Amino acid sequence: MSKLDPSRSEKPFLRVLAGERRDPPPFWLMRQAGRYLPEYRALRAESTNFLDFCYTPRLAIEATLQPIRRYAMDAAILFSDILVIPDALGQHVRFEEGKGPVLDAIAGVADLPAFDEDRLRGHLAPVYETVAGIRAALPDTTALIGFAGAPWTLACYMVEGAGSRDFAATKARAFADPAGFQVLIDLLTDAVTLHLQAQIDAGAEAVQIFDSWAGILPEDAFRRWCIGPAKRIVERLAASHPAVPVIGFPRGAGAMYPVYARETNVAAASLDTTVPLGWAAREMPADCVLQGNLDPLLLVAGGAALTAGVAHIRAALADRAFVFNLGHGVVPQTPPAHVAALAALLQEGGG
Ligand code: CP3
Repeated sequence: MSKLDPSRSEKPFLRVLAGERRDPPPFWLMRQAGRYLPEYRALRAESTNFLDFCYTPRLAIEATLQPIRRYAMDAAILFSDILVIPDALGQHVRFEEGKGPVLDAIAGVADLPAFDEDRLRGHLAPVYETVAGIRAALPDTTALIGFAGAPWTLACYMVEGAGSRDFAATKARAFADPAGFQVLIDLLTDAVTLHLQAQIDAGAEAVQIFDSWAGILPEDAFRRWCIGPAKRIVERLAASHPAVPVIGFPRGAGAMYPVYARETNVAAASLDTTVPLGWAAREMPADCVLQGNLDPLLLVAGGAALTAGVAHIRAALADRAFVFNLGHGVVPQTPPAHVAALAALLQEGGG
């Protein structure tokens, strides 16, 4: 029996990713580590610079484990950020209080140093050390998820130079010079693949690709910049690490979700909050595990609204292999007691 075969794993999260239906469903929450937890804010105060925090294994390991200790989620997600890749590629990245990420915007790969695999791996070595440290500390039934930003979403921050509602500069560049933009996407596809492979080698048991800005593209561009790179990443991981499931999160993909799932061949798709679940249960490929999709603001509201939201999701996806999650990340104003209430609803099998 292979230790790497997820269908043989004792971990409920990995069993479901291998296609098993379980009731209650395994759960974890995007951004389960973060500012809503007082112990995170205390730990975070040890470092003025967010990327330094991410690159300090002692701090990143502890941040990853904090929500697991409180709520016993079925999976831990590596504490890091998607923007470590642009940072490792030589673009200047910083996080400003109240403003989010700020990067020295690039027009294309010509504005980056020449790509060097060993330099990327060396720069990100503390992340891999963190993965190994988390894996060693986790309970036997808790799985470890590695992650990366998808090439399109990384390109959005790299070209725009900051967060944005519509990433208008990035879209204009992709539309005006698709061949030049493709070179950047191809570089990011290579970097993301390497980064995920190194996390798996260090102990990650599943990986999630965050395409947070997939939903702003028209159909042809979505196929080219979101589906194309994800398909190549999944293919390469299937060749190098066939037992490790890939979860795709093309946030905002709407009616393109089933196309994304079929064409990329991801093991699971993380559904954003706006996806109607009756539709998803019918239209998503039968062999694609579903993850999602509670509105993070229902977790802020708590009470009857939270209970009803959880019950709706469980009823709608009862006939599918599914992992309970939010439709996007936990927001900082979330009361920790509401996360405890959610965990209790799921762990007791109620809701
Ligand atoms: O618990 C986890 O989910 C793991 C850690 C994690 C973080 N960021 C920590 C973080 C993960 C998986 C991410 C992914 C990420 N980062 C995404 C994709 C998911 C999404 O939210 O759409 C994106 C787009 C980013 C880029 C990013 N990082 C932004 C836009 C910001 C600023 C916004 C904010 O919430 O402050 C960050 C900072 C960040 N990443 C924080 C955390 C906990 C907050 C910074 C702090 O603690 O000082």
